Amino acid sequence: MRNFSAACGLVLAAILLVSCRSADPGVITVYKSPTCGCCGKWIEHLEAGGFAVEAIDVANVGQIKQKHGVPAELSSCHTALVDGYVIEGHVPAEDVKRLLEERPEIAGLAVPEMPIGSPGMEGPNPEPYEVIAFTEQGSSYTYASHAP
Ligand code: CU
Ligand code: CU
Repeated sequence: MRNFSAACGLVLAAILLVSCRSADPGVITVYKSPTCGCCGKWIEHLEAGGFAVEAIDVANVGQIKQKHGVPAELSSCHTALVDGYVIEGHVPAEDVKRLLEERPEIAGLAVPEMPIGSPGMEGPNPEPYEVIAFTEQGSSYTYASHAP
């Protein structure tokens, strides 16, 4: 009986550890232009989703994109780094969390340009948009689709 409750205690501790981890997705570093308003709104969205955000203002965001291999056709306003992945543009926090859980072999996720209705780009006529996964080898696929 004693062994049984010890095992139960261990299982409980493991469950607690796992649930703590998923509640705390970690630190995400966001590179943005100092004058970008929607970038600030996306950062608020991430924080509301439980991320700790380190925001870094840079004069040339394009340089950051190039350095981290963001394909030109997928580029947006800000570029973020989290746990070895690149996050380009207004990617929903839920998709970043799913990425960190599934850990696919990709370079990162992107929401190209700035679709109205994506997090941080709220507006009157929201449009459907896709979150694109891209690899270092240059391939890409749809990671998530969002409808208004
Ligand atoms: Cu933006
Ligand atoms: Cu931005």
